[in-house]
Amino acid sequence: MTTSPGASHPAAGETALAGSQARPPLLRVEGLACHFGGVLAVQDATFDVRHGTITGLIGPNGAGKSTVINLISGSTRPGQGSVRFNGDEIAGQRPHEIAHRGIVRTFQQANVFGGLTVLENLLVGAAPWRGERVSAALGRKQAWSATQSGLLDQAWDILRRFGLEGIANDYARALSGGQRRLVELMRALMAQPALLLLDEPMAGVHPALAASIADRLLEMRDAGMTMLMVEHELRLVEKLCDPVVVMARGTVLAEGSMAELQSNQEVVDAYLGGGGGG
Ligand SMILES: Nc1ncnc2c1ncn2[C@@H]1O[C@H](COP(=O)(O)OP(=O)(O)OP(=O)(O)O)[C@@H](O)[C@H]1O
Ligand SMILES: [Mg+2]
Repeated sequence: MTTSPGASHPAAGETALAGSQARPPLLRVEGLACHFGGVLAVQDATFDVRHGTITGLIGPNGAGKSTVINLISGSTRPGQGSVRFNGDEIAGQRPHEIAHRGIVRTFQQANVFGGLTVLENLLVGAAPWRGERVSAALGRKQAWSATQSGLLDQAWDILRRFGLEGIANDYARALSGGQRRLVELMRALMAQPALLLLDEPMAGVHPALAASIADRLLEMRDAGMTMLMVEHELRLVEKLCDPVVVMARGTVLAEGSMAELQSNQEVVDAYLGGGGGG
């Protein structure tokens, strides 16, 4: 990451982490609550996502993790509470308004357009406010303008970074589950998100492919991207996420590094003790 002249540098002895903690969080979730009929899916959830982190979100099945992702991304409206992004209140806004602010998500069930090629899937992920609507361009490929060729360059860049140029023209419906997850992730990157919400990006993915996704996520973090990631596989959480937020029964139990959480008896009893990832 570059720093501009006059930007505040950490003083000698002060760690980069301490510097980032002095900065207001990118996302602040406070007192968030949501119920479905009689089921209180999320109650009083409070945590921060700091700039440049991959913040983990873990907890048993039904803990409310996906609901929290849905509440942040606007696909579910909160009953109570606040979600502040860069200081602005976004709770209750519509998904496209939230996406417009730079919050992009992937889904627990990989969500790709089967009838489009991999390359076309990436192009529809490009933020439509960045120029002519890509969906229009897809309908008349011969008319791709300079704007679109910029998007094409960006799509090929991402495909190369993931080593997937070879499947650019394959239809998404022909891909394996793991490849679909990669397509979904690459499509999210086309929007150049300020905050990427990942709901179990490695679930059901072959371990070798999961390791490759993990490496890409670390590269993205090192390039300055901020992520909030739901994950059950605790070895991956340990490798990728710091801090980690633990949810159980709709509420946040604890937040800290995996090492800190492993010595927290309440967290061990609620999740980690039972073998954790399930
Ligand atoms: N649309 C919905 N309608 C009714 N109940 C829901 C809905 N979505 C979630 N729930 C309930 O809310 C609770 C939290 O669900 P959620 O999907 O957020 O859990 P999760 O932590 O993501 O679990 P998992 O690890 O299995 O993905 C569960 O009891 C679930 O059954
Ligand atoms: Mg879930």
